[in-house]
Amino acid sequence: MKRFRKAKVKDAHAIYELLSKEARKGLLLPRSLNAIYENIRDFWVCELDGRVVGCVALHVVWEDLAEIRSLAVKEELRGGGIGRTLVLKALLEAGELGVRRVFSLTYVKAFFLKNFPFREIDKRELPHKVWGECVNCVKFPDCDEEAVLIELTPELLTRLAAEEALAQR
Ligand SMILES: CC(C)(COP(=O)(O)OP(=O)(O)OC[C@H]1O[C@@H](n2cnc3c(N)ncnc32)[C@H](O)[C@@H]1OP(=O)(O)O)[C@@H](O)C(=O)NCCC(=O)NCCS
Repeated sequence: MKRFRKAKVKDAHAIYELLSKEARKGLLLPRSLNAIYENIRDFWVCELDGRVVGCVALHVVWEDLAEIRSLAVKEELRGGGIGRTLVLKALLEAGELGVRRVFSLTYVKAFFLKNFPFREIDKRELPHKVWGECVNCVKFPDCDEEAVLIELTPELLTRLAAEEALAQR
């Protein structure tokens, strides 16, 4: 059975394995086990028959701004809606936290634009604080990720919550 839930400390190793695999392909920023433990409360996971098969993190950056990062789904389970539901959970959590703008730096811009009303933005529109972690990236300073941003209006949050409720039926 598939279940979406907030991560627990015991999930850290599975999240690490999932992210490391994609990081080796250059699709994600690598995250150390230490960073995963320290930020475990950011994470949502998808569990299938007791195994973690997908994850995403919502990281609050500043007043009214959060980042969706570390999104990955096990290769053999892609295309079944897990990635979309993980992002939906993260967006609804941002709404609950009172964060109205959520961005992502990504190589899969099309995934975000297709599934939610994200729009592409110029990376330079993001506050300097966002770049703090970039110095640790192997690609720094030649970042080729693209930035997308979504504005969580009350109307959109209502629509997303309704969608979530439907999916849980
Ligand atoms: C990107 C990723 C998380 C998507 O997960 P997924 O579970 O396969 O996505 P979903 O099944 O929920 O996709 C929902 C929709 O988005 C589409 N989609 C999925 N990946 C896409 C992509 N890379 N580009 C465009 N559309 C995409 C699907 O076709 C699907 O559309 P449909 O409903 O019309 O069939 C997954 O491919 C992955 O783990 N990739 C490697 C890591 C990565 O690139 N992470 C993103 C870093 S920000």
